[in-house]
Amino acid sequence: MERFTGSSECMLRYLGFSRDTWGETVVVFYVDNDVVNVMPLGLKILDEDMCTLYGRILRGSKFYSYIVEKNLSDTECCICVSQESQLFFWAIFEKNRLVEIFSDNKNFEELCDAYLVSICRFSIKEDSVDVVILVKEVTVNRRYPRVFTRANAAIIEALIWLTKIPHIECSNLRNTLKYIEFLRNTVYRSSQSKLYNLLIDSIYSRALELVKQVESSRCRSGDKNF
Ligand SMILES: Cc1cc2nc3c(=O)[nH]c(=O)nc-3n(C[C@H](O)[C@H](O)[C@H](O)COP(=O)(O)O)c2cc1C
Repeated sequence: MERFTGSSECMLRYLGFSRDTWGETVVVFYVDNDVVNVMPLGLKILDEDMCTLYGRILRGSKFYSYIVEKNLSDTECCICVSQESQLFFWAIFEKNRLVEIFSDNKNFEELCDAYLVSICRFSIKEDSVDVVILVKEVTVNRRYPRVFTRANAAIIEALIWLTKIPHIECSNLRNTLKYIEFLRNTVYRSSQSKLYNLLIDSIYSRALELVKQVESSRCRSGDKNF
């Protein structure tokens, strides 16, 4: 296991972060040492010398409202780097499980390939809260990243589109559902893992329900595009 502290040998590129591509992570936020939220968040490098990342928490999430309501300017946070789709699934559908797991700091080593102890600074905007992340300490738990799998990637992609459904134009809802169905077939074809099949089936049925819900509420009124 490697430990890095300070900004002189920032390992962001080593971990796969870049300036031009969103790196998908799971971020744990703390207020007064308590975990107040866990969420998947896309991050890019802001300044390598300063070891900073940035991302956006979009309006519509509970955490956006929480930050605005409390007028939070910064929190301690921890970035979990992992390719494991189940972690992302839990961060959407079983947040409480992760809140509990991450309240005990030693579990970062079990669940994350690497984790970055950081300060998250918030700037509140109309449509998002922009987050600048000052990385304080990087811990790499696995020297070699695990092999990439299409099934994992397809599950995370399907999760992303599922979380976008509440904001998608009414005319695109059914296409989004078709895309999630396509991703489900990718998982079926590329993996016989019971876990991955279970995750993608659950995502597809939740997406179907959500589309029906959005169609019968927002899309029934004249306000078709939110
Ligand atoms: C892989 C992945 C990446 C995501 N990236 C972002 C992001 O960068 N910003 C964001 O606001 N939501 C992002 N989302 C959606 C949020 O994580 C999701 O809406 C959030 O967990 C809602 O939680 P909350 O309503 O409890 O705050 C992403 C979802 C997934 C699956």
